[in-house]
Amino acid sequence: ETTYRLAVVAGDGIGPEVVAEGLKCLAAATEGTGIVFETTEFDLGAKRWHATGETLTDADLEAIKGHDVILLGAIGDPTVPSGVLERGLLLKLRFALDQYVNLRPSRLYPGEVSPLREPGEIDFVVVREGTEGPYVGNGGALRVDTPHEIATEVSVNTRHGVERVVRYAFSVAAGRDRKHVTLVHKHNVLVHAGHLWRRTVEAVAPEFPDVTWDYLHIDAATIVMTTDPSRFDVIVTDNLFGDILTDQAAAVSGGIGLAASGNVNPDKTGPSMFEPVHGSAPDIAGQQKADPSATVLSVAMMLDFLGHGELAAKVEAAVAADAAAKAESGLVRSTAEVGDALAARIRA
Ligand code: IPM
Ligand code: MN
Repeated sequence: ETTYRLAVVAGDGIGPEVVAEGLKCLAAATEGTGIVFETTEFDLGAKRWHATGETLTDADLEAIKGHDVILLGAIGDPTVPSGVLERGLLLKLRFALDQYVNLRPSRLYPGEVSPLREPGEIDFVVVREGTEGPYVGNGGALRVDTPHEIATEVSVNTRHGVERVVRYAFSVAAGRDRKHVTLVHKHNVLVHAGHLWRRTVEAVAPEFPDVTWDYLHIDAATIVMTTDPSRFDVIVTDNLFGDILTDQAAAVSGGIGLAASGNVNPDKTGPSMFEPVHGSAPDIAGQQKADPSATVLSVAMMLDFLGHGELAAKVEAAVAADAAAKAESGLVRSTAEVGDALAARIRA
């Protein structure tokens, strides 16, 4: 028997609903395998903040560190000032646990509808840097609320931080069919950071002789993402470009309802965290309207990360089959109904 300690952060809005279905599918996938997930639920998010003013205490963080992996639903609520939970909870987890790889695969499953007229075969993965860039909170505001206000958000890019995520992206590419990395940045304007990224890719690439690479500016990358997304295999980019590009990636490949992600600490100096790319969608919270597929796919990524590739494949196949079936039936289902359907396919 293998036991994993799983920290569950359901969070805000639709988080608890989609996480319930993710756990349902995790149970279905591990049934009878001897693999056991011991879950600890963490009360974090808007409710906790309103009650105590706390976002993520040192004690919470220490307790979470005692786990092997984390499953997160969604963070963010309109009743909390923008940035409080995002920075104080979600980004704090990513930073404190050194989850420097934000892994965001995109695949257009047969039956899934793309807004593109001719999407082609979409199967790429964005390796988004997770601990640096403009996200670090390095900046400030002067003369606030005056006509002379000045605000800065200084992007921090370290050779160490860039090199480790670039190397990870190349290693991902080396394990894929097309073995191709596209660096996305804006080195014609952001010359300091951009050239650090470019030189780092040039330095790391020779370690992976089978992997080819090219470069696109972020603006051009958004064009290719809409005109020819099948051109991409592995994209490596900074935190903010990756944030934007992965929403576009989700949109062209069947929607945000299917976009899964892993915040991975490859060095395993802290637990990795798996979460749907979508937000807390407070407008539909508690109504059983959210699609839990992205959370279920995040569970698949978690299983894969833990070395259970066959179980991960089973879970992903269930979502793919459900996508095909749903296209035919046209049924509108509740969150739990989708979870039940996926769990049944995983068991079959
Ligand atoms: C995401 C989200 C977060 C991010 C926000 C909520 C801080 O948009 O996971 O993509 O920008 O990383
Ligand atoms: Mn985002």
